[in-house]
Amino acid sequence: MRLKYILPMVLAAFLVSCAMSQKELSDTEIGYRNVDLLDENSVVAKDITWSNEPAGMSKKIERSFENAPPFIPHDIEGLVPITKDMNMCVTCHMPEFAADSGATAIPASHLYDIRNKKDKGGVLHDERFNCDTCHVPLSNAKAPINNNFKADFRQDNGSEKSNLLDVLNDGIK
Ligand code: HEC
Ligand code: HEC
Repeated sequence: MRLKYILPMVLAAFLVSCAMSQKELSDTEIGYRNVDLLDENSVVAKDITWSNEPAGMSKKIERSFENAPPFIPHDIEGLVPITKDMNMCVTCHMPEFAADSGATAIPASHLYDIRNKKDKGGVLHDERFNCDTCHVPLSNAKAPINNNFKADFRQDNGSEKSNLLDVLNDGIK
């Protein structure tokens, strides 16, 4: 056999042996369920809890990265599900109520139609109505796999404040 055929074969054999020596994770080891991904019958919910401090008594949680949606630090018992006719979140978080309730005001990005570049004049955009599609409480679950990600914040208070609408077009001419 010619050298030009042998070399790739040796290399391939070497790579396969490297791959085999790495420990593989099965699908029962990569999440919290710990059972086969297709098994819905023997799943046991993990014993995890969420903050039960009522709104007004909880402590805000640092943002995961610049302009990440902040976690909900307070109990949401009785505030969800959000329905067409009932959204308790806005009763404290709309800018006009936020100062009185001590809540962080809904940011400018939620009062703006980004797709059509239209300011909604202080009205919540419909796309933001279901707060809990983006904002969720933080559980005390331990991550099964460590994450070494470290966030960088360009603005000084970026770990506790958002400014997405101001920086949305950064880097775009
Ligand atoms: C009774 C008033 C009230 C209601 C209702 C309420 N919140 Fe809050 N929320 C607060 C207050 C006050 C804080 C600040 C932390 C604290 O004092 O507990 C807060 C904090 C937050 C934060 C963190 C903001 C930050 O700057 O880190 C998010 C996100 C949030 N709430 C989302 C929601 C969502 C979503 C709902 C509806 C499911 C909701 N809140 C309902 C009063 C309220
Ligand atoms: C489509 C996803 C999405 C929905 C829906 C949404 N948010 Fe947000 N929210 C974000 C993101 C992303 C940020 C941070 C970036 C920014 O300023 O928009 C944010 C930021 C916030 C902040 C922090 C503001 C600040 O000054 O730091 C509050 C409070 C908040 N949202 C409340 C709400 C409430 C209440 C609702 C429902 C009425 C809601 N959001 C719906 C994605 C969402």
